[in-house]
Amino acid sequence: MTPAGLTAKRGGPLRGRVRAPGDKSISHRALIFGALAEGTTEIEGLLEGEDVLRTAAAMRAFGAEVERLGEGRWRVVGKGGFEEPSDVIDCGNAGTGVRLIMGAAAGFPLAATFTGDASLRSRPMNRVMVPLKDMGAAFLGRSGGRLPLTLRGGELSRIEYRLPEPSAQVKSAVLLAGLHAAGGAKVIEPEPTRDHTERMLRAFGAHVDVRDKGGERHIELPGGQKLVGARVRVPGDPSSAAFPLVAALVTPGSEVTVEDVLLNELRTGLFRTLSEMGAELSVENVRNSGGEQIGDVTARHSRLHGVAVPPERAPSMIDEYPILAIAAAFAEGRTVMRGIGEMRVKESDRIALTAQGLLACGVVVEEEAEGMTVVGTAHGNRPVVGGGRVTTRGDHRIAMSHLILGLAAEAPVSVDEPGMIATSFPGFVELMRGLGAEIA
Ligand code: S3P
Repeated sequence: MTPAGLTAKRGGPLRGRVRAPGDKSISHRALIFGALAEGTTEIEGLLEGEDVLRTAAAMRAFGAEVERLGEGRWRVVGKGGFEEPSDVIDCGNAGTGVRLIMGAAAGFPLAATFTGDASLRSRPMNRVMVPLKDMGAAFLGRSGGRLPLTLRGGELSRIEYRLPEPSAQVKSAVLLAGLHAAGGAKVIEPEPTRDHTERMLRAFGAHVDVRDKGGERHIELPGGQKLVGARVRVPGDPSSAAFPLVAALVTPGSEVTVEDVLLNELRTGLFRTLSEMGAELSVENVRNSGGEQIGDVTARHSRLHGVAVPPERAPSMIDEYPILAIAAAFAEGRTVMRGIGEMRVKESDRIALTAQGLLACGVVVEEEAEGMTVVGTAHGNRPVVGGGRVTTRGDHRIAMSHLILGLAAEAPVSVDEPGMIATSFPGFVELMRGLGAEIA
């Protein structure tokens, strides 16, 4: 049963070693690639959060065999193509799921109708519809490019697409469609975004050429390529690891290690930023796992100071600004975050909700169209007051971030709709309690 609300309050230090849940981006991709491929894909460490389970159900609906073998262990048997689903595909809360699946399905002769929860139905789908239409797919949807919408796939032609916004979801949708387009696809990224799709294309036997040209990334995917089933080991999600790690940084006496965290540098902008703020973060046991670097990350309670986060770092930490803002609240001085307009079109308007949540907890925040500045409380000279009841609008990362704030603030902090945490971090409350956190 979903609790009506959760409250976090200040207690003792947080201590222990934990493993973050599987990476959400890689989990969605493993299922989609497995379904598109010919043969068997064995996945270990899959994130069994609601977003990813929706993608698993969608892959079944498009004709793949998808079977859960045990905790985090899944087998997908693909037919080398998608069949027409017999019902509406409900992607729940998952922007990654719906956008990547639209790209994957666009090259097949089928019609498919997609929908999602209230949050997903309010998010822009034009960003994938525009390039997919250019390639030859057709869409009928609500005004403003909102779900529900129907895709009619078929024969696609080559596209060369320069991403108008730094979006790995859009890049991935175009590349997945490009697999079945005559002449393939080329994507140009003015700012690099997470590269899990490129890595997985290679792991599933496709050729993809990635070059730096004048500071931009040119990704060339020849058409007419087949994917073959592969083994995928999903590393721990750095976006989820961020919550226990920041909790340790802001809670006196704490030391927390998160094991097996993905260290891909297109995902670890938060760790770089926290280190610049004076965080005692160390990485040990760095190793290669399934084509990605992983390691064990330890955070100790630290005196943090504010920084200006370079705007060009935004794509490598776009989901982490809400939890960075919490760390910034406990730091000395101002933390300036700019070039983060994309945050406004995530599961919620995350700039607005982070600012509202912090203000409700007595933290001064200046909100801008594409940025925000958090005025830190000078590390104990002026405590973070807390005491807010935070509106999450069903956004999992807004909920988790403010619960972390409550663990170190003077007065308890509560969040509404905590059930949504399970979209990306099932077991979050139990994991935090295991470290000593008081969340009830
Ligand atoms: C994701 C890309 C990011 C991120 C999302 C996951 C992905 O979105 O916010 O949580 O797996 O490709 P955008 O690429 O739209 O910025």
